[in-house]
Amino acid sequence: MSQHKIDIRYRCLHPSCCVNCREGYLTMSEDFFKELSASSGEEGAFKSPRGACRLGYSQMFKVISVKNVGEAAVSGAAPSAPEMPAEKPSQDPIALLVEEHKDILKILADIEEHVRKRDVDALWVSTNHLENHLQLHSALKEEEVLFPAMRGLVTFGEGLVSTIKEDHREVLSLLHTVRDALRDNDILDGIVKSMIVSLKGHIRKEDAEFFALVSGCLDSCVRSKIMDGMSRIEKAFVAAPAGDRKANPLTSSEREKLDEAIAAVRDLAHIDGGCCN
Ligand SMILES: [Fe+2]
Ligand SMILES: [Fe+2]
Repeated sequence: MSQHKIDIRYRCLHPSCCVNCREGYLTMSEDFFKELSASSGEEGAFKSPRGACRLGYSQMFKVISVKNVGEAAVSGAAPSAPEMPAEKPSQDPIALLVEEHKDILKILADIEEHVRKRDVDALWVSTNHLENHLQLHSALKEEEVLFPAMRGLVTFGEGLVSTIKEDHREVLSLLHTVRDALRDNDILDGIVKSMIVSLKGHIRKEDAEFFALVSGCLDSCVRSKIMDGMSRIEKAFVAAPAGDRKANPLTSSEREKLDEAIAAVRDLAHIDGGCCN
C-alpha cells in the first residue's frame, strides 16, 4: 500500500503567536492532511497535527502552498505521522519550560486528590514535591536564567518579568501557609484553592502570552546559552526532602544552610547577555 505525500507550507493563525513554528513546512500523507483540513471547518486551513505547535496546542494553520513529494510506502491503514521541522523540547528552552508546566499541573491534580481524601500525610509529600518543582522551574530556570538572558531583547520585558515574579512570590507564600497548617493537621481549603487557581492562571499566562512573545525575540545563540544555564542548574539542583511533618520547622542555622545551597545553584546559572557572534 502506498500513500501520496505532500509538503505543506503553513502559517499559524493564532493572533499572538510569534514562536519559531509560526511559519514552516510539514510533510504528511494526503489522507492525513484531508483529515486535519476537515476538522478545521475552514476553507484553506487545517488543524495543526500533534507536536507541530511549539506551545503544545492544536492551532489553526493557514495553507500557503502544497507540493507533491511523491509516493511513500506506508504499512497499515493509519495515516503516516507528519515529520516535524521543530526542535525537540530538549533542545529549546521555551518548549522545555512549557513541558515542565505539564508536570506541575499533574502535581496540582495530586494535591486536589489528596485534599478530597483529607489525606494530610499525602498532602505533606505532594506539596513538598510542588515546592521543589517551583524552586527549580520558576525561581531558578525562569528567574535566574531566562529573565536575565532576555534583558533588552523583549519589548516591555522588564514590566512583564516583574509581573511574573510577583505571581511566583504569591504562589510560594500561599504554599508555605498551606504547609505550615499541615503541621497542625489542618487543611486550609480556601488557601489551597487560591494557590491552585493562582498557579494555573500563571501557567496559562506564560504559555499563551509571555512565552509566545519571548520566544520570537530569542535567536539561536541566546537559546543555546539559556539551555546551557538550565542544564547546569538541573544537574546541581538537590530537591529538599519532605521531612517529618510533626517535627519543628527548620532552625535558623538549618535555614541558612539551605539558603546557601540554593545560592550556590543560582551562581551556576549566570549567563552573559551578549551573543556569541
Ligand atoms: Fe513557568
Ligand atoms: Fe513562572
